[in-house]
Amino acid sequence: MNSTANPNALTGRTALVTGGTSGIGLAVVHRFVAEGAHVVLTGRRQAQLDAVAAELGDAVTTVRADASDPAQVAALFDAVAARGTGLDAVHVNAGLGEFKPLADVSPADIDAAFATNVRGTTLTVQGALPFLNDGATIVVTGSTAASGTEKSFGLYGASKAAVATLTRTWAAELAPRGIRINTVIPGPTETPGLKGLAPGSGDALVQQIAAGLPFGRVLRPEEVAAVVLFLVSQESSGMTGSEVYVDGGSTIA
Ligand SMILES: NC(=O)c1ccc[n+]([C@@H]2O[C@H](COP(=O)([O-])OP(=O)(O)OC[C@H]3O[C@@H](n4cnc5c(N)ncnc54)[C@H](OP(=O)(O)O)[C@@H]3O)[C@@H](O)[C@H]2O)c1
Repeated sequence: MNSTANPNALTGRTALVTGGTSGIGLAVVHRFVAEGAHVVLTGRRQAQLDAVAAELGDAVTTVRADASDPAQVAALFDAVAARGTGLDAVHVNAGLGEFKPLADVSPADIDAAFATNVRGTTLTVQGALPFLNDGATIVVTGSTAASGTEKSFGLYGASKAAVATLTRTWAAELAPRGIRINTVIPGPTETPGLKGLAPGSGDALVQQIAAGLPFGRVLRPEEVAAVVLFLVSQESSGMTGSEVYVDGGSTIA
């Protein structure tokens, strides 16, 4: 074996990252590009997509697409088809949540949480199927909230529990094709998404969460991206249907 070989290298590979303009997804986009991949990335806000394109240039293709909208997901995969390279790695990451006590949950809140996190994840994995190259790998972003008891986080946690269940069943369906799919389960990670969980929460919320964690800090998005890279690489060739916690020890706190 070539001793200089990098088993994580994505040179010449094509990846898709949904929700790739911010936080965890943006860190994954940067890591995949650093490893040599061309990355197709999505988000709903054009300005954020343009900012990533300006920074990373030819290494990325940006597609404005709401993961919960079937027509926009179809257009995303039209763009993937137009590249003509298929997909070697997919990170299904677009997601959102907010703190909402049970008494305040509206029907619209229920639909919003499940539209992006469950319908969006399902439509994205389904849409990717015709484009997955031999040995392609998929990573879905779950959350420690799926198995937690955080007050006011039940709706979000339930949607992420659904995502983890779906991923396990898809692993069984896709195994005959040699396609692997695993769930990465981040704990609290310093992102705009975490800071926006409650109106006006911001840095104060991050500090409050960090104080309750074993290392006294929340995760950096790059620490989650490193595990996503592992899960799309051949280093994890023995894994499918797994749930990998990257939680800074939050489950032992
Ligand atoms: N941060 C944490 O502590 C944490 C912990 C566990 C799990 N997670 C999960 O990790 C993922 C990323 O979260 P983050 O904290 O990095 O959040 P973030 O900073 O808010 O980034 C979310 C990304 O997803 C995009 N997005 C949201 N809804 C979308 C939709 N319907 N269609 C397409 N793109 C959409 C956003 O762009 P637009 O707004 O422009 O669409 C953005 O690019 C989510 O699935 C989240 O549930 C986060």
